[in-house]
Amino acid sequence: MKRIGMLTSGGDCQALNAAMRGVGKTLFNGKEDVEIYGFLDGYRGLIYGQFRMLTSSDFSGILTKGGTFLGSSRTPFKQIREPDENGLDKVAAMKQNYHKLQLDGLVILGGNGTHKTANLLREEGLNIITLPKTIDNDLWGTDMTFGFQSAVNIATEAIDCIHTTAASHGRVFIVEVMGHKVGFLTLNAGMAGGADIILIPEIPYDIDKVVKKIQERNDKGSRFTILAVAEGAISKEDAKLSKKEYKKKRAASNYPSVSYEIADEIQKRSGFEVRVTVPGHTQRGGSPCTYDRVLASRFGSEAAKLVLKGEYGYMVAYKNREIVKVPLEEVAGKLKMVDPESSIVKEAKMLGISFGD
Ligand code: F6P
Repeated sequence: MKRIGMLTSGGDCQALNAAMRGVGKTLFNGKEDVEIYGFLDGYRGLIYGQFRMLTSSDFSGILTKGGTFLGSSRTPFKQIREPDENGLDKVAAMKQNYHKLQLDGLVILGGNGTHKTANLLREEGLNIITLPKTIDNDLWGTDMTFGFQSAVNIATEAIDCIHTTAASHGRVFIVEVMGHKVGFLTLNAGMAGGADIILIPEIPYDIDKVVKKIQERNDKGSRFTILAVAEGAISKEDAKLSKKEYKKKRAASNYPSVSYEIADEIQKRSGFEVRVTVPGHTQRGGSPCTYDRVLASRFGSEAAKLVLKGEYGYMVAYKNREIVKVPLEEVAGKLKMVDPESSIVKEAKMLGISFGD
């Protein structure tokens, strides 16, 4: 008999259900008897003992459904060692609930913050397997996270829609793309959507170069320009500030996000009419695309295999077209970022896309 806990933590994304289905179906299809306990709303469920036993029917009919049937929440790693408002030691509580249910292991689906806590639980002696989910694709140790391709599709569709209206009105349009502190989503959606300018956190921009590119397009007769701007895009000037100084500057800014600041700068310097579109959380919503359904199913199935073999302390990852396992301690706390010297960036530049650098 194997007793497994499962939870989804952090911001949701497409294919979380597909990944859990992969785990559940593989475990229930095996020879060994299994009990799977689903903790509700991420680590919160593990801390406060909120869970339910899952049956094989919980894993039916969910392959194509977005979101997570277990619910999710953000439990910041910074606060995990701090007692809650009633003085409860969260780490001790999680361990207690794990042992109370006599779990053999815990399958945790999440992104960067989630992995830090997962690794902490591993250090505390719990058997942990993780699955890499996030639309940001910023997890170290895996070439691809599930959720990413679905989000790229949605952001690309937003850029596609903007293209037609931008062309009609002869406007400059900024589409702000999610991705937190990295630019994978913006880079891919920008290229797929034919953006003329792509601004990502890894390549700080010079606003004069951005304006120059728009001007050049205008001089050549292009009536419109599309910018795909990452929510974490940063100017060369701001990139020189310390993290603390930059955070303070943003908090004091009257602009809701960096895109509005860029729009204002472009308008002031060039006189072009600029509009901003923010697809926001739509990028995390809806059905997973086919790529994510397959990837998440494979991840889930391989995670179950590790559980059955009793191999713990790993994140299931995708490397060089193979599903592999990576030690959790190698992954936790590390951010994967776009390499400005990577071939995809060079190819984008050869296509004529400006990064404002
Ligand atoms: O990490 C996924 C993500 O969607 C980021 O791209 C974005 O910055 C963040 O989560 C938004 O978080 P929340 O859903 O808590 O607003």
